[in-house]
Amino acid sequence: MHTDSLRRVTLRTACVAWALVTLLVVLFGATPHAAAASTMQLHGALHREGSVSIVSHRGAAALAPENTLAAMRIAIEQGVDFVETDLQLTSDGVPMLLHDPTLDRTTNGSGPIATHTFDEVRALDAGGWFDPANAGERVPTLEEFLDVLEPANVRALVELKGDWTTEQLSDVADLLQSRYMVNRVALQSFDEETLRGLQQVAPQFARVMLTREWDARTVSLAQELEVSAVGGRPKLIDRNLDLLAELRATGIGSLTYTLNKTKRWDRAIERGIDLIVTDDPVELGVWRSEIEAAAAGA
Ligand code: G3P
Ligand code: CA
Repeated sequence: MHTDSLRRVTLRTACVAWALVTLLVVLFGATPHAAAASTMQLHGALHREGSVSIVSHRGAAALAPENTLAAMRIAIEQGVDFVETDLQLTSDGVPMLLHDPTLDRTTNGSGPIATHTFDEVRALDAGGWFDPANAGERVPTLEEFLDVLEPANVRALVELKGDWTTEQLSDVADLLQSRYMVNRVALQSFDEETLRGLQQVAPQFARVMLTREWDARTVSLAQELEVSAVGGRPKLIDRNLDLLAELRATGIGSLTYTLNKTKRWDRAIERGIDLIVTDDPVELGVWRSEIEAAAAGA
């Protein structure tokens, strides 16, 4: 081909490629990572225009013994967007719903869950500490939690506590997948290695990165880990509003925990937070209905 014609073809190809990339950026967000994140808008619940999504903490920790099936049922009855729970492994590798590394605070047992077998944990009472009327509640397994979640129109945010091998993460993902939970369960962790492991072995599940520090690396790390949202305490977010804006510009959402007061909910919505984690989904649900009704009437 003549050099001039060749140059023209190359130029045309470059223009078409540029137009295509521009179209993709406009369609999916400012960066390739944003495109990945926007396809994982926490199963459609990440952003609620002019409002927030409700994440009911440890089931509904203000209303029933945390992380028990009773707490899950109460949250589900409220029609929350997500029920949040924490997962730990017993010494024989059974994933169970427990927040603390030890059994002491929320059961009548003691010592680390990691040194107790499933049978030992199963024998404990996980409700009486909250209210004698809740005596007899057990520490549920992940499978039992899924039995309750399955028929409900609610999603779950499952936090992996403690250390997890890639194989253990894979087992959890396989169980969730076998129960058709890919579009209903998002996995979250404070631990970077756990999030990396999930990205590797369970990329089909949306992930939330929880953090106690927010610095210049946070946004790029969130992009690298391809998480759908980053979660932190309100004070951390208030101190880093520039990073919150940066995060939003990448298409990644924000979550804040654990907010149980109207003043805090007002502040979160002012900040444009996507998901509020609360112990009391009843009160937060009333507040949300009011602000949504006010917005609709405005
Ligand atoms: O969803 C975030 C929140 O659950 C993290 O805090 O300590 O209650 O697990 P924590
Ligand atoms: Ca948690």
